[in-house]
Amino acid sequence: MSLRGSVVVVAGAGGGAGAAVVHRLALAGATVVMANRTLDSLAELTSEVAAAGGTAHPYAVDLVDEAATAAWAASVVSEFGRVDGLVHLVGGWRGGKGITETDLADWDWLSDLLVRTVQHTSRGFHDALRASPNGRFVLVSAAAASHPTAKNASYAAAKAAAEAWTLAVADSFSGSAAAATIIVVKALVTPAMRAAKPEATFTGYTDVADLAEAIVSRWAKPADKVNGERAWMTE
Ligand SMILES: NC(=O)c1ccc[n+]([C@@H]2O[C@H](COP(=O)([O-])OP(=O)(O)OC[C@H]3O[C@@H](n4cnc5c(N)ncnc54)[C@H](OP(=O)(O)O)[C@@H]3O)[C@@H](O)[C@H]2O)c1
Repeated sequence: MSLRGSVVVVAGAGGGAGAAVVHRLALAGATVVMANRTLDSLAELTSEVAAAGGTAHPYAVDLVDEAATAAWAASVVSEFGRVDGLVHLVGGWRGGKGITETDLADWDWLSDLLVRTVQHTSRGFHDALRASPNGRFVLVSAAAASHPTAKNASYAAAKAAAEAWTLAVADSFSGSAAAATIIVVKALVTPAMRAAKPEATFTGYTDVADLAEAIVSRWAKPADKVNGERAWMTE
């Protein structure tokens, strides 16, 4: 799959899945635009991608801030002249104790992190993605969105809302060459997690390398096949 000439934005690139996804996109030939709350977690990744012959540009943006995200997205479109992909990797988790015991402050935090960042980034890049000959917006969701539990209510509700928003973007993309699509995992495992617990099997987890491969493969399929799709990477 070649993404040569394409510009792909990775939101939340400094997190657990970020390095694998950014490296894979750069290997496919994409110019990667990375956003994270701070630049600290992107410095090493930027030089690693460059050393491997790829290109990844780091940006510090608070994606919960609507105005800051809109201004940054406009500047990216203006600077790079196009955007062919938006991969949303902003994550975070807070559990609860049950429906009545749950602290709704956690819901506020989760909905900002997991829903508002999806809304802000997909709005910021919507027109550029829709204008691209092969635009893709990829949300990484959680199995919990479809199988919510009482102790995980706020997290599950936030991921379900992010999915619904993504499906609405898919509706907006219908009839164009762009697609908005969802990949569902139960949990992710990184090389660092494996190194820290070499004896663990991480059953049911999706390796970030496999997630990266699945994300890049969204460009290999026709837009109308992946638009509005929920692809499960769970057993
Ligand atoms: N990890 C799992 O087991 C799992 C399970 C199901 C679904 N998922 C989904 O998979 C995706 C990737 O997960 P992940 O584990 O790689 O996520 P993660 O490690 O939690 O990474 C999130 C990244 O987003 C950044 N971020 C947080 N708030 C931000 C903001 N306001 N503006 C800009 N950047 C911000 C974080 O930066 P800071 O570190 O500076 O805050 C961090 O680098 C997420 O959508 C997640 O919901 C993950």
